[in-house]
Amino acid sequence: MTEIAHFNGKLLPLDQIHVSPLDRGFIFGDGVYEVIPVYGGAPLRAREHFERLQRSMDEIRLENPHSVDEWIALTHELLQHHPGNQSVYIQVTRGAPPKRDHVIPKGLKPTVFMMCYPLASPSREAIENGVACVTARDFRWEKCHIKSTSLLGNVLARQLSADEGATETIMLRDGMLTEASASNVFVVKDGVVSAPPRDNLILLGITYDLLVKLASEGAIRLEVRPIPEAELRAADEVWLSSSTKEVLAVTTLDGKPVGSGKPGAAFRRMHALYQEHKSRLAPRRPVPA
Ligand SMILES: Cc1ncc(COP(=O)(O)O)c(C=O)c1O
Repeated sequence: MTEIAHFNGKLLPLDQIHVSPLDRGFIFGDGVYEVIPVYGGAPLRAREHFERLQRSMDEIRLENPHSVDEWIALTHELLQHHPGNQSVYIQVTRGAPPKRDHVIPKGLKPTVFMMCYPLASPSREAIENGVACVTARDFRWEKCHIKSTSLLGNVLARQLSADEGATETIMLRDGMLTEASASNVFVVKDGVVSAPPRDNLILLGITYDLLVKLASEGAIRLEVRPIPEAELRAADEVWLSSSTKEVLAVTTLDGKPVGSGKPGAAFRRMHALYQEHKSRLAPRRPVPA
């Protein structure tokens, strides 16, 4: 079966979509993106994802071709062709000018691309035993709050953990915890959860915000504040969060056990709250043909 994707307003088989080599997404990584998890046809926090897309576009001075409601409608249209649990990938680049020039051209039509692929949710093994991570210096730029398609820094960071057979690379900038290559990071000490500040040095995850909300509803104490490296290393628990990883316990950091070396009580509570939240998602009725 050929996969159906969205390209500049049309639904097309994925293998029939062709992008100009002059597209600034290809030439400069000049674009932004989102990834939305979908459970049984129901996207989780689609509005929040498209609001973040708007913020990313504002930051790179790219005019949004669609309103949030239009984006949500396009997502549902695409999902008609992709039942079940999916990741929806949305990318908008600055478009294809006639020549290569760093200066942002005026009046260019952005390139819009959306595709789906089966959602790779964490395995039971990963949920029950946690995952291994390594640490590295955060060598990325200072605009990590933009969900940019220029991901070379994140790719190189992720490879450091892949080389060790680990799940993620947790990064430190000037001795402070930032985030992982494709996830946010939380630490837990004496039952109190801490998350790094919502600033330009991390991507503010939609899942990060959801965990903060679930913590507050579930009477879990959570602080947003700078987290020194020593606190990461001495934590009882460390968690990863992302739209696809949901919330995962880190049980080994640089080859050493985190806390007891097993997912902790705070993790189990947050994981349960997350699953409960997901189970309340209302599946959207299919649009009649
Ligand atoms: C660098 C980075 N940080 C954090 C996240 C988590 O964001 P979200 O929860 O919106 O998936 C991601 C997700 O891909 C990411 O790439």
